[in-house]
Amino acid sequence: MEHQGLLSIIVVILGVMATCVARLTPRVSFPMGTPGRSLSHFDSSDVGNTTTLLLSDDGDTLFVGARDAVLSLDVSQEDAIVMRSKLDWSPSEKDLDECSMKGKKKTDCPNFIRVLQFLNSTHMYACGTFAFSPRCTYINSEMFSLVMSPSGKPEEGRGRCPYDPYQRNSAITVDGELYTGTVADYMGNRPVISRHLSEGSHVDLKLDDTLGWLEDPTFISSNFVPSEEKIYFFFSEVGREYDFIDKFTVSRIAQVCTSDIGGHRTLQRRWTTFAKAQLLCQSDHELPYNVIQDIVTLPPPEGAPVDDTLFFGIFSSQWSVNSGQSAVCAFRLGDIKAVFAGNYKVLNRDTLRWSMRVQEKVANPGECGLHNASDNTLRFVKENFLADDSVHPVGRSLTMVSPDQHYSHVVTQRVQAANGKDYTVLFLLTESGYLHKAVLLEKGAHIIEEIQVFERPQPVKNLLLSHDH
Ligand SMILES: *[C@@H]1O[C@H](CO)[C@@H](O)[C@H](O)[C@H]1NC(C)=O
Ligand SMILES: *[C@@H]1O[C@H](CO)[C@@H](O)[C@H](O)[C@H]1NC(C)=O
Ligand SMILES: *[C@@H]1O[C@H](CO)[C@@H](O)[C@H](O)[C@H]1NC(C)=O
Repeated sequence: MEHQGLLSIIVVILGVMATCVARLTPRVSFPMGTPGRSLSHFDSSDVGNTTTLLLSDDGDTLFVGARDAVLSLDVSQEDAIVMRSKLDWSPSEKDLDECSMKGKKKTDCPNFIRVLQFLNSTHMYACGTFAFSPRCTYINSEMFSLVMSPSGKPEEGRGRCPYDPYQRNSAITVDGELYTGTVADYMGNRPVISRHLSEGSHVDLKLDDTLGWLEDPTFISSNFVPSEEKIYFFFSEVGREYDFIDKFTVSRIAQVCTSDIGGHRTLQRRWTTFAKAQLLCQSDHELPYNVIQDIVTLPPPEGAPVDDTLFFGIFSSQWSVNSGQSAVCAFRLGDIKAVFAGNYKVLNRDTLRWSMRVQEKVANPGECGLHNASDNTLRFVKENFLADDSVHPVGRSLTMVSPDQHYSHVVTQRVQAANGKDYTVLFLLTESGYLHKAVLLEKGAHIIEEIQVFERPQPVKNLLLSHDH
């Protein structure tokens, strides 16, 4: 508590001294209904809780995971969004009764679709909360119909989708295999990162949950980086390594290798490549914006090394001095790789406290291809999974801080201006229902326009940029 008070004072002083070079008042504003920025809405009285979005490769079809339904929308026309078909997928009366009997609110018992992914050229895969008893299903992409599994039994959704529709999760498919971050039990306190639908010599893998590899996480998103053959997970969790503050939230990036098949004895059917690190959205001597809200990938410009891939994240703060504000930070893949290749903290198993390494480094945690390693090596990686260094933002500074906007989602794009130069553009969604378009210039971020996308402010669950449209 004492530390916290001290930190706040420092921050207030620095805050007063900080100069602002960015331009954060939108230059042009387009309220709802003004010409110049036409919007098309899709709305249907029997469709609600649209949470998951998936765009077809050609950008013409948007698949939407909603409440008790998956939609296929035609988004190829500029002036209208048209429903092609709606796939109903809801729990039976009996399932709903059981859900209510367990004491759950009736309105939370439908099937909220939370995983929607392309599996291969012919099938999609979806999972939903299904009356607090998660289920998955294959979807035939061409017919847009549910496919019964070969056994005729419903596909178990545990570990792939939360039970509770208010809990966040993340999912991504790579080569027909599903990688998920979610809680894997009814009570919502067994978080897990796992692989399902494993192919060939692969087996399904998960975390060893005896060691606290995750600490009450909120999953934000996951990303596949092909050059690394790694999946990166982004989430916030309790930062156990900071034992001076009660429940200090930290933002994290974690990784697993897609080639992982678990160990022979030690770490059997468990990840041998799991490692995590702190993502620090903070400029020197200021309090961090410690709670990640959303993050997106910007591939490097043509001809640039893959290590220049950037991740743009929106962060908020757990402290009241920064409440109502958001910061944007950019992280470079090269910096992330360096942190994971560096030293790791040591967990004292008796006290569950973290410290710096003093003994010899037996292996490189986070390295791909450890499945044939000795038990000794695997025990070492099992216990050394928190990188000692944190991932700092590009330039060790914040890309942008908004004093008065609470941003919830971000997408990004590189655009070429008339002068032939490339610029990075961010689209940021505010909680009051506006979309801000910001361009990143050398002297700071400029918000060049805002568009009102919703008449009444409402929580928005997802934002997706179509590069084709
Ligand atoms: C796609 O996956 C489904 C479900 O596993 C399978 O039945 C189908 O044959 C696969 N299609 C292709 C083209 O591999
Ligand atoms: C579903 O939508 C309704 C109406 O917007 C909202 O009140 C409810 O909280 C949503 N449920 C979930 C699980 O997000
Ligand atoms: C791993 O070990 C198995 C036998 O345990 C062996 O067949 C295989 O070739 C080894 N793989 C590598 C990459 O060394």
